Amino acid sequence: MQKNIESVLIEQRRFEPDPAFATAARPSATEVVRLRERAAEDPQGYWADLARTHLSWQRPFTVTLDRSQAPNFRWFTDGCLNVSWNCLDVHLEQRGEKTAIIFEGEPGDVRKLTYRELHAEVCRFANALSARGIGSGDRVVIYMPLVPEAVIAMQACARIGAIHSVVFGGFSAVSLKDRIEDAGAVCVVTADGGWRGGNIVELKAATDKALTEGCTSVRDVIVLRRTGAAVPMKTGRDHWWHELVEDMPTDCAPRWVEAEHPLFLLYTSGSTGKPKGIQHASAGYLLGAKLTYLWVFDRQEADVFWCTADVGWITGHSYVAYGPLAAGVTIVMYEGAPMFPDGGRFWRICEQHGVTILYTAPTAIRALMKLGDEIPAGYDLSCLRLLGSVGEPINPEAWMWYHRVIGRGRCPIVDTWWQTETGAMLISPLPGVTATKPGSCTQPLPGIEADIVDDAGQSVTTPEAGGYLVIREPWPSMLRTIWGDNQRYLDTYWAKFQNRYYVAGDSAHRDADGYFWIMGRIDDVLNVAGHRLGTMEIESALVAHPRIAEAAVVGKQHDIKGESVFAFVVCRGARPMGDTGAFEQELRDWVTQQLGAIAKPDDIRFADNLPKTRSGKIMRRLLRAIARGESITQDVSTLENPTIIDQLRG
Ligand code: PRX
Repeated sequence: MQKNIESVLIEQRRFEPDPAFATAARPSATEVVRLRERAAEDPQGYWADLARTHLSWQRPFTVTLDRSQAPNFRWFTDGCLNVSWNCLDVHLEQRGEKTAIIFEGEPGDVRKLTYRELHAEVCRFANALSARGIGSGDRVVIYMPLVPEAVIAMQACARIGAIHSVVFGGFSAVSLKDRIEDAGAVCVVTADGGWRGGNIVELKAATDKALTEGCTSVRDVIVLRRTGAAVPMKTGRDHWWHELVEDMPTDCAPRWVEAEHPLFLLYTSGSTGKPKGIQHASAGYLLGAKLTYLWVFDRQEADVFWCTADVGWITGHSYVAYGPLAAGVTIVMYEGAPMFPDGGRFWRICEQHGVTILYTAPTAIRALMKLGDEIPAGYDLSCLRLLGSVGEPINPEAWMWYHRVIGRGRCPIVDTWWQTETGAMLISPLPGVTATKPGSCTQPLPGIEADIVDDAGQSVTTPEAGGYLVIREPWPSMLRTIWGDNQRYLDTYWAKFQNRYYVAGDSAHRDADGYFWIMGRIDDVLNVAGHRLGTMEIESALVAHPRIAEAAVVGKQHDIKGESVFAFVVCRGARPMGDTGAFEQELRDWVTQQLGAIAKPDDIRFADNLPKTRSGKIMRRLLRAIARGESITQDVSTLENPTIIDQLRG
């Protein structure tokens, strides 16, 4: 990471906003100033106005913010609405025949659904769920490929007040089981498989495995036929999607829920071994997702918006399943691997479907950049008008390539900072308004009180001085709690500064213009290819292997993935010597089986023991330095076993 930080510190380029950039939905520069002033003077009035303007309420709210149980904040508490109504029904009159989803499967199959068709499919599936006895407050786990039915299932849950928890299809059976059990899900929606890199991801098989090992709460498994591969179906428990919806009506009255009714849980990694179920509320979340879509992507009726994220991540929730649909635009969904069957796939999709806004992760940009300029040059990308980046710091080199080669120098780039917990973007440029600098997410959106503070909680005002990124005031789309563990919510996000502000877990600094530059995580969380992984989760997976006694995992800088997993491992019995390749592969496969392929270590180093202080704490900073091949500058005299360093260096 060190190199990254240095490179952003010297970044001087600045791209002025183009005043000619269309302003359909986003506020103008003058309006932004007014919005900021209004938000500062009367934050509740500011949010209340937006919630009244942008959401359709069945029962209007009179209470904007309930702080009585702070820092468990509650928004618009006495209002009632339905999220699926706000994403679908509100468009039927004006946009019923407009395309809502353009889907492209990895094998090349293309399917389009209008808003009316999407509405009908959501209603049919919602009716099917209700017919299985699933109702308001029940948890439904969705473990699917990136196909329209994933969005249909999410929207159907929202329609009947069920709480969905999407588990990324790349996670293993073990991870799936942990999440099903923590959520206490009554139903799992899955598929016979999905296409990825020319192979079938066997989602049903993983579901079966998860369910044989526990998950007693699950009564129903609904299986979408996607690949056509034969899968065993368990009588009474498993049902085919197409059979369940066959006779269902295409209309389903929405279940009106209170604003705070949980919309979904999404599990994400933190500092401990157990992923946490981030819980979002209906109204506040939808307001965040919709408003940021309108503003940051400058919503236009004719837009074709492609967010490449899977619905298994928060980006796919806010900018595939909810935000753009609430905004009534056409979205593109692509099922498969970005470079399948070749490096032109992304650009072909943009050309063929006339994508106007592309929102992707720096990892994908770096991987595509590595293939050279010729591939994208071969495609007509003239429809693109705006580019977005999310999920990890974007290095200036990748930013410039995105700008020059993909945007052809004409498309503004919005580098959007946010998290699973924040529900929607919090720090981001507004196209046509904010000057951008490669590598900076620029400034907080109006209404968001982001700051950088030191250990004492004091605002850091010296330019370039780093500190903790915090949000000083609550915002509607913030997480409400951690499912089943409010204490962990308080400890993780609020305890450090005595509940005064939300602690994001990132470090950042501000330049002389007040622009934010994110430096990375301050906790034991890795960001591998834009995917958030806990070091402790990987360590627990490793020590679950019969031959492993102890493990410590750190991140190592990686050209494409941003960070890669580096594991130091202590075996039971003698340390493996000589050619350890086969055993390393066994451990990688093991981690893949326990967690998923995204978590497997690139590097594994064996040692007799790990560097520990006399009080028994693993010296992670030392391990990070070793993993990165840096010289060790820190004091190692407190190490219990200083001689171990040479061994760890390999
Ligand atoms: O470290 C920050 C990084 O991703 C973390 C959040 O991960 P997750 O909850 O999985 O959500 C990712 C998608 C919103 C943050 O704590 N991160 C996210 N966006 C950026 C970023 N780092 C730098 N620049 C960004 N634009």
